[in-house]
Amino acid sequence: MEKDIYILGIESSCDETAASVVKNGRIVLSNVINSQIKIHEKFGGVVPEIASRNHVDAISYVVKKAIKEANINIENIDAVSCTYGPGLVGALLVGVSYAKAFCYASNKPLIPINHIEGHISANYISNNDLIPPFLCLVISGGHTHLVYVKDYNEYEIIGKTRDDAIGEAFDKVARVIGLGYPGGPKVDKLAKEGKEQIDLPKSHFDNGNELDFSFSGIKTAVINLYHKNPNINKADLCASFEKVVTEELLNNTIKATKKLKIDKIALAGGVSANSYIRSKFLELRNNGYEIYYPNLEFCTDNAAMIAVAGYYCMCSKIKQNLGTNFNYDELNSKMNNIKENLELNAVPNLKIGERI
Ligand SMILES: Nc1ncnc2c1ncn2[C@@H]1O[C@H](COP(=O)(O)OP(=O)(O)OP(=O)(O)O)[C@@H](O)[C@H]1O
Ligand SMILES: [Mg+2]
Repeated sequence: MEKDIYILGIESSCDETAASVVKNGRIVLSNVINSQIKIHEKFGGVVPEIASRNHVDAISYVVKKAIKEANINIENIDAVSCTYGPGLVGALLVGVSYAKAFCYASNKPLIPINHIEGHISANYISNNDLIPPFLCLVISGGHTHLVYVKDYNEYEIIGKTRDDAIGEAFDKVARVIGLGYPGGPKVDKLAKEGKEQIDLPKSHFDNGNELDFSFSGIKTAVINLYHKNPNINKADLCASFEKVVTEELLNNTIKATKKLKIDKIALAGGVSANSYIRSKFLELRNNGYEIYYPNLEFCTDNAAMIAVAGYYCMCSKIKQNLGTNFNYDELNSKMNNIKENLELNAVPNLKIGERI
């Protein structure tokens, strides 16, 4: 009989201390998130040292709560996965060090996970029918990437932002027009009351990769317009900003699907929670595309996505050793072959697909 596999995921790359237990790579048994948003709000952004200190305070409690809410014992956990990059180095080190100590004390294997590969893996939670290959548009606070997901654990970046990440542009626009931090959800809400009637510039490149993005121009245009006309209708400004950036996301994504001859598209990262972007991508279903995105709770930082990525990373490693005749019984019996990985360190600039 197949044995159930339980992975404990740990996430601390920015300002959320999170832990989660996931069964068989797709079923979330617990998802505990201790957010520091209230602490950083008054500074208008995340203060790295304060984030690290708060992770230290929260991590033990968060992990214990995740195990308790999953209704399992430490002995039931097959492996621990933790984010080791990209992110704030001090924040990452808290999760990495805690995970190493946990694995050493309980004699469990440790699986290092790239935070952005975690965001992509969040799609497996909500969409049982989603299997690679597919195209993933990663739109988060620090990244804007078009990623060809060739297989679980096999990624190729085919387009990326040349300047700001889209989440940064949302946050900056929100801050300048006085909506506060974090800006993305506030722009989303206000835009619903506005009309897309303000003319804003689109990005344009004469050279390089046609699948690249740029958001600094539109961000600056919105800010300049607001400074020149402080009485401008903010809701219209937000709606018009969302329209221009969404067109750029859609254009490049469609170009990429044609290039790769693929019609399966997934969204990932915090900005994929945006209701306008979701609705515009959903319209592509009318043109024969399969569209996937994570449930709202799994778009922004969480540890369930890290546990899911850990599960598929472990499967890939065991599959490599076993060849194609791979099944769950063997997964269980080969668990001990995965090393504890106690040499692991944080890698703040880790790239998608990079294995350090
Ligand atoms: N509804 C929304 N509309 C637009 N943006 C949103 C929405 N909800 C969250 N965001 C944005 O998502 C970002 C946070 O997402 P995420 O957790 O993926 O980023 P991060 O972890 O800081 O960066 P990264 O994952 O690239 O390291 C912020 O920029 C936030 O403003
Ligand atoms: Mg993130």
